[in-house]
Formats: sequence, C-alpha cells, structure tokens
Amino acid sequence: MLDNRQVSFSGVQPSGNLTIGNYLGAIKNFPYYTENYKCFYCVVDEHAITVRQIPAELRRRTYETLALYIACGLDPEKNTLYVQSHVPAHAELAWILNCFSMFGELSRMTQFKDKSAKHADNINAGLFTYPVLMAADILLYQADVVPVGVDQKQHVELTRDIADRFNQLYPGTFTVPQPIISTSGAKIMSLQEPDKKMSKSDPNENAVVRILDDRDTVIRKFRRAVTDSDSEIRVSEDKPGVSNLITILSCVTGKTHDEIEREFDGQGYAEFKAAVGEACADMLAPVQERYKELLADRGYLESVMKKGAEEAAYYARKTLSKVRRKLGFVSL
Ligand code: TYM
Repeated sequence: MLDNRQVSFSGVQPSGNLTIGNYLGAIKNFPYYTENYKCFYCVVDEHAITVRQIPAELRRRTYETLALYIACGLDPEKNTLYVQSHVPAHAELAWILNCFSMFGELSRMTQFKDKSAKHADNINAGLFTYPVLMAADILLYQADVVPVGVDQKQHVELTRDIADRFNQLYPGTFTVPQPIISTSGAKIMSLQEPDKKMSKSDPNENAVVRILDDRDTVIRKFRRAVTDSDSEIRVSEDKPGVSNLITILSCVTGKTHDEIEREFDGQGYAEFKAAVGEACADMLAPVQERYKELLADRGYLESVMKKGAEEAAYYARKTLSKVRRKLGFVSL
C-alpha cells in the first residue's frame, strides 16, 4: 500500500568489489532513512553492462552487493532491496525519458567523458544514455531524496532537469528529487593518488581499500598511503593525502577534523596511518562477519531479491501507467 512518507532511492553498481568510498560516501548513510522514509535501494546491474562484464562475475557481484546492503545495516523487512533488471519498468521508462533528454546535456556529463576516455574501444550508446537510466530509476519511485557521493551529484541534477522538463509538458507527473551529499566522506580519495577519487575499478590495489579486505590488508594499504614530505597532521589543500586520511578517520570515528588534529599533534605519519588503518579495520569487521553469513545463504538472498522486486514493481507500475496515460499511449 502507498504510504505518505517521503521516498529515498539510491543504487550501487555490482561492477567491482566495493570500496570504503562506496561505504562512507553512500551505503553507510542509507539506513539513516529507514525509519522515516519509504526506502528503495537497488543493485543496478543494467548500469554495470555499459562496460564489458564477465557474466559469472556480474552474477556473483549482484549477490554480493545485495548481501553487503544487508550487512551494512539495511533491514530487508523495512527497506525495499532489489535488483534493477528484475523490474523491467526501469528500462521502459528509460526509453521514454531518452526522448526528453538532450544530446548536449548528456555530452556534458563528466562521468561519460571519463569513461569514454577509459574505454575508448567501447563508447557505446548505453554509456552515453547511462544518466537517463539513472533518472528512470529515481523518477519511477517518485523519490524525494537520493543519498549519493559527490561524483553522482551531476547525474541527480540532470534527473531534476529531465523531471522539470517532463512536468512542464505533462504537469504533476514526477516528484523532483534532491541529491543528498553527506558533509563528510562524500568524496574519499585514492590512497596512492589523493587528487583522484577512490574508485572500485582502479587497477592499483594499494590505492583502494575494499569493504571486504581483511584486517592485515587494510592496515598495510593505509601504511603505504601517500602523504607528503612534511610531517604535520592537518587538513589543507596542499596536503591532499593527509587530508584524505583525516576525513576517513573522521567518518569512521565520528570525531571532528579539529579533534583529530589535536589528538595527533606532534606524532609522526607512521603512527597516524597505523591508527587510521586500525580504526577502519575495526569498522569493517562486523560488516564482514555478517556479510559472510549472508553470502552462505543464497536461498535467503534470492528470497530478498524476489520480495524486493515485487514491492518495487508495484510502485514502478503506478508511475509508468501515469506516464503512459499522459503521453497518449493506448492501454489495453
Ligand atoms: P557507483 O556504483 O559508482 O557508486 C555507488 C555509490 O558510492 C558513491 N561513491 C563514493 N562516495 C565517496 N567517495 C568515493 N570515492 C566514492 N566512490 C563511489 C557514489 O557516489 C554512489 O553514491 N550511477 C551510480 C549508481 C546508480 C544510482 C542510481 C545512484 C544508478 N542509478 C540512482 C543513485 C540513484 C553509480 O555508478 O554509483
């Protein structure tokens, strides 16, 4: 049944092993909405195929991403957790919205430019219209809020433009969503090149801390993190490596940047990096434990997927019928 709570929607691609960037920038914030919002959190497998995937790996990661959602605190009884390709309305609305999205605005998307440079041999139409599918995800559920990391803000803003454009022609169709970017952790940087975002597809494993990395690996990666030739532990634009580590420690412990700077005043980088590694490993340990239990029970994960897809399809159908009616499609 429809309730009158506001709606939260977000998604994660099952395209690689998730990082602490995905966790601190997005997934950790999802449960915050559970009690007061109607929440939809989707594993966006259709987005993942805009770059080539190995089928068995895509399948495995789809289960893993769903298990991680639950292990990170999303209760499937209180949130609708599902897989995008299980609800065909996403692809259907995406086609319709393609006809209301402009070539020029899609050409300006930073992620499209980055990914086309990275996958120059496969600049397919899906890579170009990727943000339109994302708009369909969000608008299908009449989402009010979309919690995401900074890198997805531009796509949510485009979603707002598409919704506004559609609403001007067909008033009252879509809720115009707000991107929600957390004040801290919205852009976790690479540990090796701290002027670049930490990305799950980074080929340099030392640059990325994965949610599922074991304790020793987490600590080792932080120990190797790039800092600078100075020895001061403080946030500053000219100290991107140290600033990133302070941000991570702040997200993990809830301490402010000032508190961290005072706590480590006079200490060396080695002690500081060890402390960040320990704190991060402590944060991940309970998530990993719960994840292992969940992954061992495929039957349970499939039951969550099935229930989630049914719930999501119910809401998606309502929006899609409205859109079809407004456009003048004949309904049988
Ligand atoms: P994806 O799968 O790349 O990332 C999932 C979420 O993690 C955030 N994120 C980060 N946050 C902070 N620091 C980082 N280094 C970092 N890296 C990733 C992302 O901002 C994102 O919130 N297009 C989306 C998936 C998507 C979606 C949607 C999101 C599809 N449909 C509808 C919201 C609503 C993506 O590729 O996320």
